[in-house]
Amino acid sequence: MNSNIPVLAIDGPGGSGKGTVGQILAQRLGWHFLDSGALYRAVAVAAVRDKINLDDQAALARLATSMNIRFIPRTDGSAAAVLLNGQDIGDMLRTEESGRLASIVAPLPDVRRALLQKQHSFRQPPGLVADGRDMGSTVFPDAILKVFLTASPEIRAQRRHKQLIDKGFDVNLPRLLDEIRERDARDAGRAVSPLKPAQDACILDTSQLDISGVVEHVHGLLRERQRPG
Ligand code: C5P
Repeated sequence: MNSNIPVLAIDGPGGSGKGTVGQILAQRLGWHFLDSGALYRAVAVAAVRDKINLDDQAALARLATSMNIRFIPRTDGSAAAVLLNGQDIGDMLRTEESGRLASIVAPLPDVRRALLQKQHSFRQPPGLVADGRDMGSTVFPDAILKVFLTASPEIRAQRRHKQLIDKGFDVNLPRLLDEIRERDARDAGRAVSPLKPAQDACILDTSQLDISGVVEHVHGLLRERQRPG
């Protein structure tokens, strides 16, 4: 592993702000960005497309190993294009349904193992901001800083609701809240890499903070870690 390349690990449940905060910081630092959730979503979306059963662990692991996935950042700051074997599946990945399907394949140990090496390959100079559930606890245990963002399910549902409405989707807030609770329970309850802060993570509740407040706080923590001596 390229362990001399710094990693900032940002973990937390969906809607905690980790993706937005991670992307802003990656841009500010000039570091690479890994959206690890997109890898799990891509496995699920490709499995449905290829009619692979979501409990066929061996076939899903083969799919995860063989898929060629690339993120192409956009200059206007909007979400990156995601190329799966050359086809842009970015829009397909960002639906609530692909998040739900991702959380069904994510507990499978062979799928997680297959994606581990892919995630490590994102660690390139000058640094990496990695966003997910187990970036600090499992994938990059030597990260220079591990942050775990939280927020109440109600606040996260409201944020998701606004995001989806802004994108023109027709969504129902109470249903979104139920889905968030269901996904939290699945992610926190699984045996392998459950959603929980790494032992040495800084935990930050973002319920009462806006994005720029979280960005500044995390950047401040990173600067402290990078200070020589
Ligand atoms: O972060 P995002 O909502 O895109 O993640 C989708 C799902 O993928 C999560 O609910 C979780 O089940 C899974 N995931 C994971 N480990 C990660 C990132 C995502 O298990 N590092």
